[in-house]
Amino acid sequence: MIVKFIAVAALGKNKEIGLNGALPWNIPEEYDHFKRTIKDQYVLIGRKNYELHGEDVEGAMPIVLSKSGYTNPNAVVFSSMDQVIEYADDLEIPKIYVIGGAEIYNLTLPYLSEFLCSVVDYEGPADTYFPEYLFYEWEVVNQEIHSNWTLYHFKKRPDF
Ligand SMILES: NC(=O)c1ccc[n+]([C@@H]2O[C@H](COP(=O)([O-])OP(=O)(O)OC[C@H]3O[C@@H](n4cnc5c(N)ncnc54)[C@H](OP(=O)(O)O)[C@@H]3O)[C@@H](O)[C@H]2O)c1
Repeated sequence: MIVKFIAVAALGKNKEIGLNGALPWNIPEEYDHFKRTIKDQYVLIGRKNYELHGEDVEGAMPIVLSKSGYTNPNAVVFSSMDQVIEYADDLEIPKIYVIGGAEIYNLTLPYLSEFLCSVVDYEGPADTYFPEYLFYEWEVVNQEIHSNWTLYHFKKRPDF
């Protein structure tokens, strides 16, 4: 496998990531960081997230994961990580940003080498949570503190 998988996610203090199909907060600066990160990049996205927020990935190249036979003229769709990796190897894609939602973060955790994790000053209602990722060991290679969120750049320890 040549391709590197990098997760990009915004988490509340209790790993909240979604409420009623949307983010539980509105932090334009954090959203701008997300848009800048994925611009012109390949992004791996769950079918539900893509159907809910396809507009968020405008300017990126979406690879959708679905097992239900979903198709969309604006995206390539695969039904397993093996297919995604084969596609990336064939096209010599160096990196793919994993942009959720929860099912796709959970599925890709073992494949990640990096994680751009925005921790938002939010504790409150949610119906979707980021999976337990501290099962792996992460090194903080950069940290940017903003007024109501902090961006951590994690690298997974190679032996994990
Ligand atoms: N805070 C953040 O950074 C952030 C980021 C992204 C999303 N979100 C939030 O997360 C929520 C959506 O997340 P979600 O977990 O409900 O849905 P999701 O992960 O976006 O999509 C789930 C779908 O992915 C497909 N899938 C799951 N496992 C698969 C596998 N092993 N192989 C192939 N396809 C697979 C299935 O599609 P089929 O049913 O078609 O088979 C499944 O229904 C929303 O509330 C959204 O706002 C938050």
